[in-house]
Amino acid sequence: MMEQDMQEILFTREEVTARIRDLAAQITRDYQGKSPAVIGILRGSFIFMADLVRELNLPLTLDFMSASSYGSGTVSSGLVDIKLDTSEPITGRDVLLVEDILDTGNTLSKLVAELKKRNPASIKLCVLLDKPDRRTQPIQADYVGFQIPDAFVVGCGLDFDQRYRQLPYIGVLKPEIYE
Ligand code: PRP
Repeated sequence: MMEQDMQEILFTREEVTARIRDLAAQITRDYQGKSPAVIGILRGSFIFMADLVRELNLPLTLDFMSASSYGSGTVSSGLVDIKLDTSEPITGRDVLLVEDILDTGNTLSKLVAELKKRNPASIKLCVLLDKPDRRTQPIQADYVGFQIPDAFVVGCGLDFDQRYRQLPYIGVLKPEIYE
């Protein structure tokens, strides 16, 4: 399925599934006795979120947000533009933010700063992919599926021009597709 547009398959469906299962086991252990508010950041997180929560053995609640950040990596005080906010308040909750990728860190650092103002009991970050080479903000994820090099990746929720999100693997797009 659209494999001809891929330069390389970085992680197969089976590898992604196995890694998510391991992450979920770790999160389940870490949140014993708690009821986390698991919040997916749309749209990229939706597939990872669905796979992850089905492997979590916790009395969690689910919610979603959508945000976009303005400005470049040098702008650290800019506000995040929350396009869709959570349906339930997070005050006093153990928040686990779920995202497809941590790239420059702009979006998530601003979002985390905004959510902290609402006084959650805790806030942690779980990402399927981490591209540390691209980071311009001092932010790290607490749970990382895979660290990846600075390549144009799609699949498992990640898009190019709104396409390829549904691919069940993580692929590197051929440069001629996006150049
Ligand atoms: C992507 C991704 C993260 C962000 C990561 O979202 O889902 O939210 O970019 O980049 P950053 O670390 O450099 O901020 P995008 O804005 O493409 O929206 P989408 O989730 O709808 O794909």
